[in-house]
Amino acid sequence: MPGNGKLHYLMNKKHLLELKNVSVSFSPGIYAIKNVSVSIKPCAITSVIGASGAGKSTLLRSINRMHELYPNIKLSGEISLDGKNIMEMKPIEVRRRIGMVFQMPNPFPAMNIYQNVLSGYKLNKIYLSKAEKDEIVEKSLQDVALWDEVKNSLNKSALSLTVGQQQRLCIARTLALQPEFLLMDDPTSSIDPICTNRIEELMYRLKDNHTIIVVAHNLSQASRISDYAMYLEKGELVEYDISNVMFVAPKDKRTERYITEQIE
Ligand SMILES: Nc1ncnc2c1ncn2[C@@H]1O[C@H](COP(=O)(O)OP(=O)(O)OP(=O)(O)O)[C@@H](O)[C@H]1O
Ligand SMILES: [Mg+2]
Repeated sequence: MPGNGKLHYLMNKKHLLELKNVSVSFSPGIYAIKNVSVSIKPCAITSVIGASGAGKSTLLRSINRMHELYPNIKLSGEISLDGKNIMEMKPIEVRRRIGMVFQMPNPFPAMNIYQNVLSGYKLNKIYLSKAEKDEIVEKSLQDVALWDEVKNSLNKSALSLTVGQQQRLCIARTLALQPEFLLMDDPTSSIDPICTNRIEELMYRLKDNHTIIVVAHNLSQASRISDYAMYLEKGELVEYDISNVMFVAPKDKRTERYITEQIE
């Protein structure tokens, strides 16, 4: 579709992520998430809200198969990416296409800044020339507005950065692999308000060609940044709607109670 970059992109990359009756349990009969069915809107930000223990992190982890790192965990139902069951794909491929950013920045301590950005390529055993590496590092760090701050210290340890810079580095490391989806589990909880703004602005820019699912730090962040919102309670997806609609006029009593409690 000439003249419309975004639509053109959408036609090439469908970004269809669907969950059908997904349940996850850590022990028999006890569900961390229960029967969740949802079709995630592409090239938009969906926030996940709910009380502690509601299942927000478990939901995000199951979407890129990170739940498999927990022993005894069981997942039932189906998660599909562009119509393909993710359980039938290679985990490394799923995690390349669906990147994840955690609550606490977790750069690789033994690697410098440059190596951290490229670590996904190393892990995926993808060979790059020096020129390609330089280009990916610069672009990824530009994307997260960190390039100007670190361009003269790329060989310094990632741990020499502030916490906020480390979190942007972790986002750059994820973006370096050109994922279609970004799962972000409360990515601003450990950083100051200025850096939080930067990350929120970054998410806003990224949604042009990424689908983002984020566990919001609080309701005001969720309403600032998200197009759609999911409310989870005791592992159940109670409500899923356009965020402005849900936050102003929730349809379910349980959502209404949660929102009211958060505002009070
Ligand atoms: N490793 C684990 N082993 C056993 N149970 C777990 C484990 N991780 C989470 N759970 C349980 O699964 C449920 C959902 O937890 P989860 O961490 O997904 O919630 P959350 O909404 O992310 O909470 P928070 O806001 O505190 O991060 C909780 O009842 C929790 O106790
Ligand atoms: Mg959590």
